[in-house]
Amino acid sequence: MPETVRIVEVGPRDGLQNEQRPIAPHVKARLIDLLTGAGVSYIEAGSFVSPKAIPQMAGSDEVFAAISRGAGVVYAALTPNMRGYDQAMAAGVDEVAVFSAASEAFNQRNINCSIAESLSRFEPVLAAAKRDGVRVRAYVSCAAGCPYEGAVAPEKVRDVTLGLLDMGCYEISLGDTIGVGTPGQIGELIEYLKVWAPVQSLAVHCHDTYGQALANIYAALQAGVRVVDSSVAGLGGCPFAEGATGNVATEDVVYMLNGLGYETGIDLDALIEAGNTISSALDRPNGSRAATAISRKRARQESQTNE
Ligand code: HMG
Ligand code: MG
Repeated sequence: MPETVRIVEVGPRDGLQNEQRPIAPHVKARLIDLLTGAGVSYIEAGSFVSPKAIPQMAGSDEVFAAISRGAGVVYAALTPNMRGYDQAMAAGVDEVAVFSAASEAFNQRNINCSIAESLSRFEPVLAAAKRDGVRVRAYVSCAAGCPYEGAVAPEKVRDVTLGLLDMGCYEISLGDTIGVGTPGQIGELIEYLKVWAPVQSLAVHCHDTYGQALANIYAALQAGVRVVDSSVAGLGGCPFAEGATGNVATEDVVYMLNGLGYETGIDLDALIEAGNTISSALDRPNGSRAATAISRKRARQESQTNE
């Protein structure tokens, strides 16, 4: 039996949250439906946050109302507080994610509170989710470096990670928000965290700003991590992490995992179709190297057949 890696597709949320032009809910829903059709089993489909902070995520409820749900697929959303949680439940969200950081300066800019305050804000969310039987995932941003504070000590990542696990989050996604980490650092960070928390509770969320994301994911796999966040077509970035580019492209991750013999349940060709469709809707080239190479190869083959 091949080993499985679970892909958490964050394109419809992290991928689109920083887009300046409004994107209609039906365009987002179409992307989510294509991802569902490609076999993606976990899709972060929106956010229930302040529309002043993240205008693009306003109307996430309309997106949830418009999607065609796949059997067994989890459709999740970010919920920073009880207000977001209640809205998410009303919209039919399956799972929610709370988000903090290993850097005080980033947390202040992102969610307007200290790390300790953020954990207190999440407490009622965790309590309500427990009551409702809803699973809660969590992010620790700036796990490999901060745009404001620079280097981030692994102890800080550990403290927030353990705080979130203690309050009942089932999985912690370690965010390299600005993509500065390198494979040795990521591998060491995970080995360090494994002393304190089960590796099964850790995921990696790599932005590709410095071109290190795939290598960082490989290092995380070597350290035992089996959950990887990624964004179709490499879309994305956080508005509070200036200069940070998109997440690692899901197509590139799936191509690498296929080569390594891991099972993801994702059909790469259908995934490429999803990435090409949203890229044309946004009027830009697909940011995935694998998708671009495979699409070009396919076009060459088709033109040869037609000659
Ligand atoms: P605050 O100012 O501390 O809270 O914001 P507040 O309760 O005073 O509310 C401020 C305003 O937001 C009020 O509106 C509230 O009504 C409204 P106003 O009176 O000014 O008109 N509000 C809400 N509206 C809709 N839904 C809600 C909600 N809550 C309050 N749930 C808050 C705190 C967290 C709300 C705010 O700072 C916020 O929404 N920030 C957005 C943060 C965000 O979404 N960032 C991007 C996602 S994180 C990320 O990308 C990183 C990640 O990918 C991992 C990685 O890469 O590292 C996850
Ligand atoms: Mg992110």
